[in-house]
Amino acid sequence: MIGIFDSGLGGLTIFKEIEKVLPQYDYLYLGDNARAPYGDHSQATILQYTTEAVDYLFAAGCSFIILACNTASAEALPSIQQKILPSKYPGKNVLGVIRPLAEAAAAITKNKRIGVLGTRSTINSHAYRKELKKQNKEIMSVEQACRMLVPLIEEGFEGSPASRMILKKYIRPVQAYGVDTLILGCTHYGIIKKDIQRYIGARVQVLDSGAIVAEKLVDYLQRHPEYETKLTRGGERKFLTTENSDLVAPLAQKFLGRKVGFEQVSLI
Ligand code: DGL
Repeated sequence: MIGIFDSGLGGLTIFKEIEKVLPQYDYLYLGDNARAPYGDHSQATILQYTTEAVDYLFAAGCSFIILACNTASAEALPSIQQKILPSKYPGKNVLGVIRPLAEAAAAITKNKRIGVLGTRSTINSHAYRKELKKQNKEIMSVEQACRMLVPLIEEGFEGSPASRMILKKYIRPVQAYGVDTLILGCTHYGIIKKDIQRYIGARVQVLDSGAIVAEKLVDYLQRHPEYETKLTRGGERKFLTTENSDLVAPLAQKFLGRKVGFEQVSLI
């Protein structure tokens, strides 16, 4: 079984794409809605919450987990991979979304100027800047925290005059930097990709996480048959949340494109 973790529901946009290219596997989705959004929490808090989620998903039978959340990937994945996995979960793995997006952006940029939009925590961690430098030392990046976008999207305010005004304000400094590639470094921003593309201009390539993460996962599993062979293939999908499921289910449709039922669980 593949575990998919997000702070809340945005990770469903990534799961949706993974499910399209790898429908044969069993999936267990977990959203920590009761403690979301993660984007304004401290690194220590995000690491603690994400570690609890990883423990939960491994205990539930997952042999492989995707952190389908930029904030958790930026703030918790390095510690989980370096400290927790080798001692506690040998033979299991956790992957995030930062490297796949940075690899894709580094491969397509021509002027080596890349913009990143994300939550405050993702931007403060400079996880994208560091990963882009690893890909190519010559890449210069401009990172912009967009704290208002997650609540605007969850409230259904996308496309409103207020959201356009806020979006322009966030995009202006990125545009002024002369980027030719823009990473949408938050699960929610794909929902407003068209607006972002309109404001940043047609010449900038805007990269959204879902399809890119899915494509890299296919490639990863082909290169790592040791994980691939452990994954169960029943086409099963189960959705868990730490919040009351009646509160969560209506918004899930916006991110997944279909109605699904959630089961409430506790991580602690
Ligand atoms: N899932 C988060 C991310 O991709 C956004 C929502 C949050 O802040 O929890 O960064």
